Amino acid sequence: MTEMMKAWVPDPGATAHIRLTEVAKPELAADEVLIRVAAYSVNRGETFLLEAPTPSWRPGKDVSGRVAAVGSDVQGYELGQRVVAHPDQAGWAEWVAVKADRVVALPDGLDDVTAAAIPLAGLTALRLTRATGPLAARRVLLTGASGGVGHAFVQLAAAQGARVTTIAANDERGHRLRELGAVETIPSIEEVTGLFDIALESTGGAALAAAWEHLVADGRLVWFGQASRSPATLDFFNWKGGMSATLRKFYYLDDPSPVGVDLESLVRLVAQQRLHIEVGLTVDWRETPVAIETLLGRRVRGNVVLRVEH
Ligand SMILES: NC(=O)c1ccc[n+]([C@@H]2O[C@H](COP(=O)([O-])OP(=O)(O)OC[C@H]3O[C@@H](n4cnc5c(N)ncnc54)[C@H](OP(=O)(O)O)[C@@H]3O)[C@@H](O)[C@H]2O)c1
Repeated sequence: MTEMMKAWVPDPGATAHIRLTEVAKPELAADEVLIRVAAYSVNRGETFLLEAPTPSWRPGKDVSGRVAAVGSDVQGYELGQRVVAHPDQAGWAEWVAVKADRVVALPDGLDDVTAAAIPLAGLTALRLTRATGPLAARRVLLTGASGGVGHAFVQLAAAQGARVTTIAANDERGHRLRELGAVETIPSIEEVTGLFDIALESTGGAALAAAWEHLVADGRLVWFGQASRSPATLDFFNWKGGMSATLRKFYYLDDPSPVGVDLESLVRLVAQQRLHIEVGLTVDWRETPVAIETLLGRRVRGNVVLRVEH
């Protein structure tokens, strides 16, 4: 008989487009680890996918928990071991099967909630520091800075010597980003002054052009999201920016480095307290729709994490 478990599935008619239901427990492939999920985080991009889900897709790319079984080809994991993982999908559930090369062991001092917030936001921030090129003493402008990606990026970039200016909606958010290494925080892109070597833009609408206009002549714009959902606009006849800046579109999985290696580095930095993961909201996983609405309503700073009760 098929073993069943609880999991969130897409449902266009439900609050936040998801419904908690019974699905078949995952079958384990030879190269996978089965994880009994303790916590997962919710990412803005996943909430967009929920609006137009593909058949058989379920949300969930960031999980922490315990190893419940290992595939026949997998070595190096023990049953009951605490881990963090980055599956392609289906992690908002009691159990998830993940390719072993995307599973990383957790040290004792790193709790499940913090761990669950590391993968997608942490990998994106880490890989953005590669996409920018060298950061030592570079002036960097970061929009949409008050989410999980922004908090991690500010710390990783500051540690490399960058002078980061962030855009975040209010003083409290700005204050926290300064504590973590930003040199300047500004509530809206319209209030930015001066020029930057690098700009990172993820909010969309007029912000992309505004960020570009604040670049030095040969600066670099890394375009990595569209939180507002509004397409970026450029006006040829009203252009105040330089003439030869580079625009680079960024997707974190285009970076060829192995996910497991980068995730292991992030876990080590967090365990050594050299990278702080800002978790702004932690609730029971039955509250996932409310948590999504809080995130989309810009009412949270940092990551949103759900604790799973089995
Ligand atoms: N390209 C990739 O590979 C990749 C990977 C991961 C994430 N992303 C994208 O990167 C961005 C940051 O990720 P995240 O997980 O940190 O997201 P997040 O937690 O949702 O944070 C995004 C921040 O952007 C600001 N924002 C939200 N809606 C906005 C709007 N309508 N207009 C202006 N600002 C808005 C908010 O800050 P304030 O309210 O303080 O302004 C919010 O805290 C997102 O857009 C996400 O989709 C891209």
